[in-house]
Amino acid sequence: MKTTRELLLEHLKRSAGSWISGEWLSRELEVSRAAVNKHVRHLQKMGYPIGTSTRKGYLLGGPIDLVLPEEIRDGLGTRIFGARDIVYLAETDSTNLRARDLAAGGAPEGTIVIAERQTAGRGRKGRSWFSPAGQGIYLSLILRPPVTPGEAAGITLMTGVAAAEALISVRSLDVTIRWPNDVLVNGRKIAGILTEISTEMDRIDHVVVGLGVNVNNCIEDLHPQIRETATSVFIETGEVLARAALVRAVLGHFEAYYGIFLRKGFQPFRQRWKELSGIVGCFKRVEMIGRTLEGVVVDIDAEGLLVLEDEQGRHHRIVSGDVSDGAPGE
Ligand code: BTN
Repeated sequence: MKTTRELLLEHLKRSAGSWISGEWLSRELEVSRAAVNKHVRHLQKMGYPIGTSTRKGYLLGGPIDLVLPEEIRDGLGTRIFGARDIVYLAETDSTNLRARDLAAGGAPEGTIVIAERQTAGRGRKGRSWFSPAGQGIYLSLILRPPVTPGEAAGITLMTGVAAAEALISVRSLDVTIRWPNDVLVNGRKIAGILTEISTEMDRIDHVVVGLGVNVNNCIEDLHPQIRETATSVFIETGEVLARAALVRAVLGHFEAYYGIFLRKGFQPFRQRWKELSGIVGCFKRVEMIGRTLEGVVVDIDAEGLLVLEDEQGRHHRIVSGDVSDGAPGE
């Protein structure tokens, strides 16, 4: 059952760009004109660009590209992620930090935190994630998986596949994955994933999966430090994409995959992950904290660890590191 505000928004969207009279809206919604006005003011506060005129009524200027809960839920097919609590923040330090605090306070699995802008967006290994207002997706999901911390490693890789498939489904992009968690187009990073696990003894209390996607940035919008190495959906396609549509695609793929992951682990995603990464058989350098290894990637194992064969033929199973192209014998 839709609320009056949701119905009002539907009317405004249907007539976006044209004025609708307050009197007509009050009749359609069966509420007073004062109530219509009150709901309009609320929608304006939420960020909807609605013009008001005592003579003409209300006008929704478009196009709307906010990641408001109402926009995400409009056509969302999930039952858990996004279907439960969506915590929307116009600005925050880091959605992963907000999600972590909510999870520590007992927020259930399926709660998501999304922001228009992050002032201290976090990447892996203490790096920052460039998060300008209104251009990207800054999203964190709270999970409470009944698996061991070791098994949870596969969640990051599974999320990479979900993000890649979501991008392919909305814009047919030629997406690849760089182990463990970078999503690339034409060799440039379009999305990144930061998974943070909170454990108690040997069990998981919660996992926060943070996803950042560059969506509508043009090249000049990208921070100079990443201009050579990053890209966005807009840069690749020349078209603006409604970010809420991509959020829905991400949540849809994520929820379906997470259900499979809980029953069968990372194994069902292994083949697709290998296809998207093209890494198996390649000579790579992997930089980890305190050491660097070089060799041929022989596999991604059933738990999502990278299996590297060094020049002596020894196999190393690596949980996390930075992968780059290496030249044999260098
Ligand atoms: C990386 O590639 O290093 C991971 C980047 C992850 C960025 C996302 S944006 C939403 C969430 N909140 C954060 O502070 N980081 C993640």
